Amino acid sequence: MGSDILQNYDAEAVKEMLQSSGYSDKAIQYYVERKGMGKLEEANQITELTGPCGDTMKVFLKIEDDKIQDAKIQVLGCPGAISSAMVAMDMAKGKTLEEAKTITEGVIFKELENIPDQKQHCIQLTVKTLQNAIEEYQKGNNHKEG
Ligand code: FES
Repeated sequence: MGSDILQNYDAEAVKEMLQSSGYSDKAIQYYVERKGMGKLEEANQITELTGPCGDTMKVFLKIEDDKIQDAKIQVLGCPGAISSAMVAMDMAKGKTLEEAKTITEGVIFKELENIPDQKQHCIQLTVKTLQNAIEEYQKGNNHKEG
């Protein structure tokens, strides 16, 4: 997502809306900072998944010696999707594949502290995307873009 788009919106107003719809300050911080957002040129595992809501995530993992050295994700989705995806990228970095398999919905929700109930499926999409990527890598099915 282009940062020029972000510059054109009223960040404070967005924060207020998110707060009043049930996002914790921590979840909002992940949403606003978007540290793990984007593409990773050196990725050797790229996995894309679209959820039942129609939102899509594309995860980029750089894996060496069964360890996730770096991780980024592109998210075409709601604030719940974006904030949970940012947590997942933060957590995945530096973990072995086996350790990263322990990044479950509960673990992400705990880190976010709170997001609206109807946004729980967004965490599910994040977890599925990451876990599919790990599974595909382990099966040797690592889609790499040309
Ligand atoms: Fe689709 Fe949140 S509504 S991921």
